[in-house]
Amino acid sequence: FRVDWDLMTAEKAGFDHFMLKEIHDQPKAYRDTMLGRISDDGRSVDLPELNITPEQLKGINRVHIVACGTALHAGLVGKSVIESLVRIPVETDVASEYRYRSPIITKDTLVIVVSQSGETADTLAALREAQRCGARVLAITNVVGSSVAREADDVIITLAGPEIAVASTKAYSSQLIAFYLFGLYWARTIGAQDEATVAHILAAMQALPEQVERILSQSDTIKEVAESISHHSSLFFIGRGIDYAVAMEGSLKLKEISYIHSEAYAAGELKHGTLALIEEGTPVIALLTQEDLYEKMLSNIKETKARGAHVLGIMNEGHEEEIAKSVDRQFAIPRTLPLLTPALSVIPLQLISYYASLALGHDVDKPRNLAKSVTVE
Ligand code: G6P
Repeated sequence: FRVDWDLMTAEKAGFDHFMLKEIHDQPKAYRDTMLGRISDDGRSVDLPELNITPEQLKGINRVHIVACGTALHAGLVGKSVIESLVRIPVETDVASEYRYRSPIITKDTLVIVVSQSGETADTLAALREAQRCGARVLAITNVVGSSVAREADDVIITLAGPEIAVASTKAYSSQLIAFYLFGLYWARTIGAQDEATVAHILAAMQALPEQVERILSQSDTIKEVAESISHHSSLFFIGRGIDYAVAMEGSLKLKEISYIHSEAYAAGELKHGTLALIEEGTPVIALLTQEDLYEKMLSNIKETKARGAHVLGIMNEGHEEEIAKSVDRQFAIPRTLPLLTPALSVIPLQLISYYASLALGHDVDKPRNLAKSVTVE
């Protein structure tokens, strides 16, 4: 599996910043990461790069997903993907914590490390610790030949192309695609899902690039929201289930490049403390892409509005009219399957942080105090 990174592709291609270019690269990154990994009839996933045999995969009874920063947030979505498709328990952990807490690792544990660069020191150390304890390590990385790719037992390369901006966008979303592919492959290998279900999910995945393009064509709406947010010193992202994982990524992105303090909260947990911080005008970004949790989210939004919050709702198309009563602003994402929504809902969040940083006059691509890849512990 060889990927050539043409230096020319690393240029901004007419965009003002690498981050904006990379946000717009996502439809292609999704297509490239899926390319050749979905059978021609669209009914199965093929990952010939994996060394792990079907027999070995059948023997795995627990998963640890270990990473840092944005890659860890992709792992939080990966946990939902594997647990719902494969029905095997998954723990996620911060790489810098993992190896110091004597995690319970056996030879039947699959450790998945996620890293855009493949060079993050904490992630590499976690990989080595997992192997030392006898686990098999699968790496999801964007860099062929990176340390993580070289040392892992199995590697799935995300084909996001070079990512230059410090704030990760297309690498994160391509990591989600890698988790979907691997989850489906694994589920079929052990018979946890039938062929029709897999084909249904694969069809929805193949629609994602075009759906991302539709979101990107509405960037101006997001720009306005971001500009109003940029006047605030603190805000909240709330969501439930997989939306909570995406909320964490939205919050990190905003902190990284706009330096606005924000917190991501599981919406049902707000009332146990954080609600005290909501005051007149506090911006709240609420994700409501999970239909089974939609009503619950509406009541959480009501709790924040009662304290004066100014709420942006990010929900599925079709809810526009009725949600207008509950939120101040809204942004609808195209309909997809519940498990796939992160691949769409993260896009407006990336754009919010980009435009907020721009409005504040910060160096979007090179935020203060941060490095693209942290190779020291
Ligand atoms: C650094 C970057 C983050 C990134 C993290 C993990 O802290 O500033 O944006 O998410 O490293 O990087 P990796 O290359 O391992 O995905």
